[in-house]
Amino acid sequence: MRKADVVIIGSGIAALMAAEEICQSKNVILFTKKKIFDSNSMLAQGGIAAVMTDDDSWELHQQDTLEAGCYVNNEKAVEELVKNGTKSMEDLVSFGMKFDMDPNGKFHLGREGAHRKNRILHAGGDATGKHLVETMYKRLKDKITIIENEMAIDFIIKDHKCVGVYALSENGELKMYYANSTLLATGGIGSMYQFSSNNQWITGDGIAMAYRAGCEMADLEFVQFHPTMLYINGECKGLVSEAVRGEGAYLVTKNGRRIMKGIHPFEDLAPRDVVSRAIYNEMKNGEEIYLCISSIDNFEERFPTISSNVKSNGIDIADGYIPVVPGAHFHMGGVKTNTNGETNIPGLFAVGEVASTGVHGANRLASNSLLEGIVFGKKVARFIAKLPSMMIDMNVMNYEIPRVRTLPTKNDIRDMMMKYVGIVRTEEGLAKVISYFTYYLESVEIETHAMTLEELEIYNMITTGKLVADAALNRKESIGSHFIEIVNEPANL
Ligand code: SIN
Repeated sequence: MRKADVVIIGSGIAALMAAEEICQSKNVILFTKKKIFDSNSMLAQGGIAAVMTDDDSWELHQQDTLEAGCYVNNEKAVEELVKNGTKSMEDLVSFGMKFDMDPNGKFHLGREGAHRKNRILHAGGDATGKHLVETMYKRLKDKITIIENEMAIDFIIKDHKCVGVYALSENGELKMYYANSTLLATGGIGSMYQFSSNNQWITGDGIAMAYRAGCEMADLEFVQFHPTMLYINGECKGLVSEAVRGEGAYLVTKNGRRIMKGIHPFEDLAPRDVVSRAIYNEMKNGEEIYLCISSIDNFEERFPTISSNVKSNGIDIADGYIPVVPGAHFHMGGVKTNTNGETNIPGLFAVGEVASTGVHGANRLASNSLLEGIVFGKKVARFIAKLPSMMIDMNVMNYEIPRVRTLPTKNDIRDMMMKYVGIVRTEEGLAKVISYFTYYLESVEIETHAMTLEELEIYNMITTGKLVADAALNRKESIGSHFIEIVNEPANL
């Protein structure tokens, strides 16, 4: 049993930014179910969107964010996000973050889908997340307690307040962390899908835990598919950044037909839901889709991470064609919070992708997610840091790790999510997946031993999967990333 002022669960940018701010006045334990660098932030390629030039303004960034989000965003949250962009980038530079610069010594600003301006700061060409996380980790590692390989399994709730979290170590030992404030920052749900850009351990744990504790959820049906994952022999092999299309690449069929012509005025830089659906429809009709990169000079220099991944998967960059497929990328929905990170349970906060402030609406604007983690990570931390300490009764409570029951495999779940809760949904498909998850959630305990870490992950995946499918079935109209077709089974890609 341990006690800290604040316990943070997760190791992405929102968790690290929050830790950076809180550790100035409070002690912090940050723990993560795998290694510190196992986060989606670490994999982020494109960059961070922020207003950095005189011909741009926070109002324009706000307008692009709202338009991509189909105007169902929380407008106040959007304003807070975009107004804090410039200052946040200055802070990062003062922390030692080295963004890529142009020959004139100014930030080299990239372009991505649905942005009207070049406003994407990046680092290491296409390794922005890695540089950012490493910069923050270097600052933090001696100032907070970092615990790896422990999975948060449930919150400790006493008198309707959250006073910490139960965790399970890799060797099956139950741990208890007590805290005045518990901050959930476990990221999204991408690896609950067959095709995904996410770190493999991002399996919707945070939503499942928060649900069991009684948290309200918001917008769970909004799951963004990134249009371009590298696609090799029916498998998805990692992200090909939208910044590649920002530099002039475009989507084609095997015969070179440009698929985004006539679909949206921004063509290949249309919002992600529009591009992903266009690819989905082409693939449904038997087409293979490629990203044509032949117009980009110095591709390998500008995109070293992507080039090396593409090459190591047997594709010759000189051919100019990269095979792609859309994959689950970002969850706009999540645990309902305000921009101070407050959930409906006192003492329990959420930030980053696991939280839903409504800032992204029905479809997140490219490169707004690292910005969200940075801006709201800091804001939530400031709010938590000001809270008075409370007396915590640390008498051990009765808690039992759930017992083993009949469970599907992770891959079974991923196939079901991809097919029925994917880019295009149908009422029939959603009903099918809901009864599939319900069967497993209601199946009786069949063994006397407690679930292992992997079994708990699967249990969380079916819990979260059902919540997402329920929300999708409840939203009758198509909007942004939620697209519901009236008839026909969704296609297998
Ligand atoms: C990308 O590089 O295309 C992903 C960036 C993002 O999701 O914001």
